[in-house]
Amino acid sequence: MPRLAPRFATLPSYPGAHVPARKRELLAQGVDVIDLGAGDADLPAPPAAIAALKRAVDDPSMSRYGFALGLPAYREAVSAWMLKRFGVRFDPFTEVVPLLGSKEGIAHLAMAFVGPGDVTIIPEPGYLAYLGGTLLGEGTAYTVPLRPERDFLVELDGIPADILGRARILYLNYPNNPTAAIAPRYYLEQVVRRCRELDILLVYDNAYSELAYDGYVPPSIFEIDGADDVAIEFHSLSKTYNMTGWRCGWAVARPPIAAALSKVKTFVDTGAFMAVQAAGVAALESWAEWVPGNVAIFRERRDAAVSAFAAAGFPCATPRAAMYLWCPLPAAIASRTFADRLLDEEGVVVLPGSALGSGGEGFFRVSFIKSPERLREAAARAGRLLVRMQGELA
Ligand SMILES: Cc1ncc(COP(=O)(O)O)c(C=O)c1O
Repeated sequence: MPRLAPRFATLPSYPGAHVPARKRELLAQGVDVIDLGAGDADLPAPPAAIAALKRAVDDPSMSRYGFALGLPAYREAVSAWMLKRFGVRFDPFTEVVPLLGSKEGIAHLAMAFVGPGDVTIIPEPGYLAYLGGTLLGEGTAYTVPLRPERDFLVELDGIPADILGRARILYLNYPNNPTAAIAPRYYLEQVVRRCRELDILLVYDNAYSELAYDGYVPPSIFEIDGADDVAIEFHSLSKTYNMTGWRCGWAVARPPIAAALSKVKTFVDTGAFMAVQAAGVAALESWAEWVPGNVAIFRERRDAAVSAFAAAGFPCATPRAAMYLWCPLPAAIASRTFADRLLDEEGVVVLPGSALGSGGEGFFRVSFIKSPERLREAAARAGRLLVRMQGELA
């Protein structure tokens, strides 16, 4: 095989990459597998989005290249929604970047801002696209552990000055995957101020902005004074509208930052399928009437999952946002061992905390993406395994 580039060797294996094969084997053996691994709900997309997609595929103009512009109506719908939802204005044509899912944009952004010798600051555990973009840009990742005693916030003050001096990007994600933590406004103000002082690009991953409970309303980073000069924010239809497979998202930023991402993308993709963008318009327009019902389903699942996993020996906090429980494990049980045995012995897929970086050790992630009955069944199986493993340690 021809030689691989050295940067390729720096990529770790992707979390859960081994799971689909093992799951297939178990299913073939007749095991009743409950997959709570990915943040990918078993719920339908909004009917308005499905109808719009069906209409759009009959329109031959939708089958053409979208190019960087994409469907103008999609840009306009994003801009209108950002104004309605966060009270912030973005020009549809110079400040909105349509994406093939937000992961794509997050990963490609680093190509514009990171090179050899540059550092990015990455929360750990965290979404792996931050690390992937950094490594493919031949930058160096400086990871900051997210720990419960610090409310899972990335504290810049503990980072050595020489690292901050070389830092080009700070990745933040609140509501957070995997910890479900949320960021208080004073914290966001502090971070924006520091990024301005240090001239660091603040990449704000807001994929879970619309999955929030108990009256909590996640903000946009652009609600914070001064963010305009340093921030880019990523959004996605995936979680809000149960449209993970449709691959549709966007970024917003002021023109120079938006243009940098857009330019990278002109060399690597030619735009999302415009029929999907047309469905995106319908989804965004259905936000006010459709999203609350969907959130209510997630809230019911959250409540079922929190009580069932707590009763099974995993006392976790009740998340105010996102679709994850961050479940603690006894210190003597490694999260990867626990997750592997949970799949092999009980047919339940969860994500070990260590798969999202060593800072995630001591926890596993449960996505509450299935019915309350299935979540209760999964929790009971996890509790059984915990008892067995504790017995083995005694
Ligand atoms: C924190 C976070 N950001 C971004 C994404 C990417 O979502 P998508 O590429 O589907 O828009 C995910 C998906 O799991 C995520 O958890």
